[in-house]
Amino acid sequence: LRIGVVIVAAGSGQRLGYGIPKAEVGLAGRTLLEHALDSVLASGVAACLCVAVPPGDTRLRGICARAGGKTPVTVVEGGSSRADSVGRALAGLGPGLDAVLVHDAARALTPPEVFRRVAAALASGAQAVIPAVPVADTIKTASPSSPQERSIAGEKVAGTPERAILRAVQTPQGFDARILAEAHGWLESAGEDAEGITDDAMLVERRGVTVFLVPGSEEALKITTELDLMTAEALAARRLA
Ligand code: C5P
Repeated sequence: LRIGVVIVAAGSGQRLGYGIPKAEVGLAGRTLLEHALDSVLASGVAACLCVAVPPGDTRLRGICARAGGKTPVTVVEGGSSRADSVGRALAGLGPGLDAVLVHDAARALTPPEVFRRVAAALASGAQAVIPAVPVADTIKTASPSSPQERSIAGEKVAGTPERAILRAVQTPQGFDARILAEAHGWLESAGEDAEGITDDAMLVERRGVTVFLVPGSEEALKITTELDLMTAEALAARRLA
């Protein structure tokens, strides 16, 4: 399969609170984007890459310009939502691809094996495949308390999905190139609220495509908060040891 890889790195990093785009944040002496690019390139699955960076960002553009070697790396300006950034990067990948993997720069330490697992499932005939891990916490759904209950607490439990069937999903998420392009085209034309779309698999699920699960990795954690960054530093140090 000829596979293109999209890396979305256009997030603001507001929750991390460093005052710089998250993909520029340092981890074990390198930026999150450099770690993410390393993983993709080490996996050997990418025929080409397109990275969505924050508008006006020159540092991440410079990193992309130096990356890749024989693998072409293009850069596009990200949009106001993740889905918007993915849509723009898909357009930047160019034609002639069989499949596309969409990866978050925030999952900087995703092992190359995870990319290969996703690519292998696509090669076996999956139209959509995502990495996932079992959930350790019991997960509840919540609803607002009634006006009478509000003096006790603002929310109450609405239900408890059976933990054994829950999965926490990660990236890279892999898709048949045509199906993903159609799904993103539909998202734009439907004017659907992109904020509610938290991953690309959700888009193709709505269109009735079967999404397969392959094992993810605990190392593929999404770096969102300071605590996540501390965990990632420990993981990076363990790799070097
Ligand atoms: O905001 P969230 O943590 O869900 O972002 C996940 C990934 O999407 C990050 O790698 C971030 O850089 C990217 N993103 C983007 N464009 C946006 C928002 C997020 O590329 N507008």
